[in-house]
Amino acid sequence: MGLNGLIEEIISESKIYIDEGKVATYIPELGKMDKNILGISITDFQGNIYNAGSTNIKFTLQSISKPIVLLLALLENGEEVFNKVGMEPTGDPFNSMIRLETFDTGKPLNPMINAGAITVASMIKGTNLMEKVHKVLSLVRLLSNNDNIRINDKVFQSELRTGNRNRAIAYFLKDNGIIEGNVDDALALYFKQCSIEVTTQDLANIAMVLANDGVDFKTNRRLIPSHYANLVKSLMLTCGLYDHSGEFASTVGFPAKSGVSGGILGVAPRKLGIGVIGPALDTKGNSIAGIKILEKLSDVLDLNIFK
Ligand code: DON
Repeated sequence: MGLNGLIEEIISESKIYIDEGKVATYIPELGKMDKNILGISITDFQGNIYNAGSTNIKFTLQSISKPIVLLLALLENGEEVFNKVGMEPTGDPFNSMIRLETFDTGKPLNPMINAGAITVASMIKGTNLMEKVHKVLSLVRLLSNNDNIRINDKVFQSELRTGNRNRAIAYFLKDNGIIEGNVDDALALYFKQCSIEVTTQDLANIAMVLANDGVDFKTNRRLIPSHYANLVKSLMLTCGLYDHSGEFASTVGFPAKSGVSGGILGVAPRKLGIGVIGPALDTKGNSIAGIKILEKLSDVLDLNIFK
């Protein structure tokens, strides 16, 4: 069976898990997504694109923006980024408040939890918020090879209205000197980056750049230094699926990042770039059927990097 047939089969087999999941409603605009959507796009090193299920649906990046903005922060600040945010996994949910013991290290544990991601957003340089937002959008457009990528303003407004926990986290970080600049700008940039709208194809293209160590394989142009691509992939592997990251690393075995809209970006190094959407989430905020799809795909195509 070819890859097209395989992913069609995996999508139809994985639909049974949708019932057990729930669409995120804590951001009301996200709650409008159709629970039954399920789709996957894959890009390979021959330039082939494989799609199955709902691949023309637009959804917002949400937490999938975290590794991308981390790349931008690394490009602008180098590894000084890690003076303000750590590299250690946490067994806590993505939106956990910073526990006092977190400050044993003096900084949020990693860039994939909200505290770390808001800290990373605070490190993006620019004279005003617009300029910083534009830089993030430009990097997403560059990595996905899609100049039409936009911010979904309804989702952004919805995040602004309901993001009080993120506000609390950000002000706590500011009070502790972790966020140095304007705290409201850091928050607004974080809400904007979460509201960037993509398709599974965009995710597969972004993942492909990471799978190829930062080089656009079509043009052979280096978009990201290899060292930064590797750093981000290692953080995705250890922290990309929140408090499910450890299990995901053993059952799927490649770097990935999920978001509460139900998207997952998966990187099979030197093999494939993968984008999945399935808005029905498990209790940890990850796409319930999306994880099953990646488990099956990894198994059949032998994508586990530890094997
Ligand atoms: O911080 C939030 O609440 C969201 N805008 C993004 C979080 C997210 O995607 C977590 N994912 N599982």
